[in-house]
Amino acid sequence: MVANREPYSHQRLEDGRIVVARPPSGLVTGIEPLLRECGGTWIAAATGSADRECSDRDGRLRVPTETREYTLQRLWFDPELYERYYSGLSNEGLWPLCHTAHIRPSFRAADWAAYQSINDSFARAAVRETTRNGLVLVQDYHFALVPRLIRHRAPHAVTNLFWHIPWPNAEVFGIFPWKNELLEGMLGADVVGFHTRQYCLNFLDSAQRYLECRVDLEKMSISFRGHQTLVRAYPISVEWPYPSASRAQGRELRQSLGIPDDVHVSVGVDRADYTKGLIERVAAIELMLEQNAALRGRYVHVQLASPTRMHIRKYQELASDLEEAVARVNERFGTAGWAPVLLHMRAFSPEEVRKHYAMADSALVTPLHDGMNLVAKEYVASCSDGDGALVLSTFAGAAKELESALLVNPYDSQETAAAILRAIRMPRQERCARMQAMRDQVATHSIHDWSAKILHDLRAVRDQARRVRPVQPLAGAAVSRFDTHESASFLAEEAAS
Ligand code: F6P
Repeated sequence: MVANREPYSHQRLEDGRIVVARPPSGLVTGIEPLLRECGGTWIAAATGSADRECSDRDGRLRVPTETREYTLQRLWFDPELYERYYSGLSNEGLWPLCHTAHIRPSFRAADWAAYQSINDSFARAAVRETTRNGLVLVQDYHFALVPRLIRHRAPHAVTNLFWHIPWPNAEVFGIFPWKNELLEGMLGADVVGFHTRQYCLNFLDSAQRYLECRVDLEKMSISFRGHQTLVRAYPISVEWPYPSASRAQGRELRQSLGIPDDVHVSVGVDRADYTKGLIERVAAIELMLEQNAALRGRYVHVQLASPTRMHIRKYQELASDLEEAVARVNERFGTAGWAPVLLHMRAFSPEEVRKHYAMADSALVTPLHDGMNLVAKEYVASCSDGDGALVLSTFAGAAKELESALLVNPYDSQETAAAILRAIRMPRQERCARMQAMRDQVATHSIHDWSAKILHDLRAVRDQARRVRPVQPLAGAAVSRFDTHESASFLAEEAAS
């Protein structure tokens, strides 16, 4: 498994103690159960201040600490190179490009060079780890070039690239300066996965438009330079049954926040990212309170916002804009004993998040655009008593499956305000019926189904390949040695051809 974000980082505190930190990452939430179940190696970038001393000489350790179910292989990079790859090309380039969130993407040649170099390092690490005919799972937009690099070095490995964010339409994608190289890199995979069928169709269209390849819409496949890539929708999900906190824990939290029992609490759980629609959400709450004076003192929105990617200016701006927006609403409507919006901007453990779900009467999940959004599914899964309302953006992949949510256009504050009000006033019977329909959906499409489907498709590809080209054993060194220089010149040669 190649995924940039490590599932556990070791941080040294000021008092000298070392703690294990969990990142606020849908990807980690989604993928970790698979690794815990099947074992294997997670290859990730080291980010913790005490990561080195908590790994062996080769950067490896068994995780989670208590059960040691799989291997974490940490990689270290030159900080400037990593910054260009992660903040630069990945998060100032591909992230806004794919989310179409009206933030202009930045494309810098030096960031692209860093992206190529770090993709190369991850591919080498994956090849070292891969047994003949092994399965390699590559996660996300940080690693578009990895599948092709792996194919070049270990042609018998079977590779899946899963793209966790949206894939834009071909015109939007067309502004990416290195679009051909990116597509070619991805088409080294045997299977490319997205959350929705629409993203698959956008991807097929982009390949058809920009590469000389054969797209088969019937089979949902792309043939490029003699290799076939299947393009499939695999909507990611959460564990089922879900380890919910109890309503009693929710009540305890409510008391500790000083919120009376008869006040309606909505909850929002997000990374503090401009794609999450947080400013728009606060504006919708403001509008609702403006139009419904009776709700003042009777409603509270608790917003958890985990700081993220703070080296990027847009994220710093978002954090301060959000604080300002919340202060404005609280000043406008709040009283001595009541603030309508409680904003908690810090990292939260999964246990804390679950208590917030248990405390809430409804959840607001209103991103401007989101590949899937696992918070929506987590909230549904956590309502084990079958009661709770969900206000959900139509622009989250989750909206394709959770059709019984109150679906809104987050850009439309009046519509969003009306949906929040409806969630507050909804009769219990309707709330439970809608929640039951959503719970049925998540129960029958859990994270286990997601990984089982991907593994099933990869094994089918592997079986097919074995029938077509019986395996010749390679000299071990040929597989394990992956020379940076050689792969850089491979990329250059291929680009020229
Ligand atoms: O949604 C895209 C994504 O990469 C997720 O896969 C991940 O959970 C989230 O963004 C977090 O991003 P980062 O690793 O940059 O904190």
